Amino acid sequence: MKVFPNKDGLLCIFSDITNIREKEKEERYYDKLKIIGEMAAGVAHEVRNPLTTVKGFLQIMSKDKSLVNYNTHVRLMIEEIDRVNNIIAEFLNLSKNKARNVTESSMNQIITSIYPLLETRALKEGKILKLELGNIVNICVDQDEIRQLLLIMINNSLDAMEAGKSVLVKTYKEKDAVVLCIKDEGSGIPENLIDDIPTPFVTGKESGTGLGLSICYSIARKNNAKIDFDTSANGTTFNIRFSN
Ligand SMILES: Nc1ncnc2c1ncn2[C@@H]1O[C@H](COP(=O)(O)OP(=O)(O)O)[C@@H](O)[C@H]1O
Ligand SMILES: [Mg+2]
Repeated sequence: MKVFPNKDGLLCIFSDITNIREKEKEERYYDKLKIIGEMAAGVAHEVRNPLTTVKGFLQIMSKDKSLVNYNTHVRLMIEEIDRVNNIIAEFLNLSKNKARNVTESSMNQIITSIYPLLETRALKEGKILKLELGNIVNICVDQDEIRQLLLIMINNSLDAMEAGKSVLVKTYKEKDAVVLCIKDEGSGIPENLIDDIPTPFVTGKESGTGLGLSICYSIARKNNAKIDFDTSANGTTFNIRFSN
């Protein structure tokens, strides 16, 4: 607020700084993400190598007939190591500085290419995965990154739904944007997580990493897209708007 005294009184000028504050918040978030990524890259390789050794010996033990009584324990240990490996893999993804490959792409084709993978999971769990692919123009994106975003988001939707429910993946054109919409009939994002959803390690799942959506938000940013979502106890809809 600026105040200028004059002969009739005071002239006050108010400026709305909501946008500036939002931008600052966003910058802080991406700074944090970058630091986590750098830290991760440093630690991840060091942790992975010994894990591979341990897993290798556990696999040998699982085949040793004299250790048959320990089979369940050994299997559990292998599973836990896989879990740690997954966390590290997601971590590395967050920090990956691999060369990007941005090409003029058809969003519909990207979706169709990973559909079988996701459909397999949906069918196994008695859930339905529907596509509604509209008439949209090609956009410049990194296809691998978009595939990863789709996997994370659709898997999250499947995680949140009971058998018999469906998730709809839709594309359509909007003024200057191509919109990718993922709409599920799941339980909704837990209320206490809604405000922090893009923050790494925020998870509502017992064995979640809380890294999935933070990866999606950085993928969206790299590909000139904005994410918004709407959630209730009846389901969640994520919209990803790619500007042309
Ligand atoms: N489609 C969805 N429906 C309901 N909850 C969701 C959905 N997507 C994300 N969430 C919530 O957001 C949390 C964070 O998601 P994510 O970053 O992918 O990490 P993770 O899946 O490892 O927990 C999830 O644990 C879940 O509680
Ligand atoms: Mg997830």
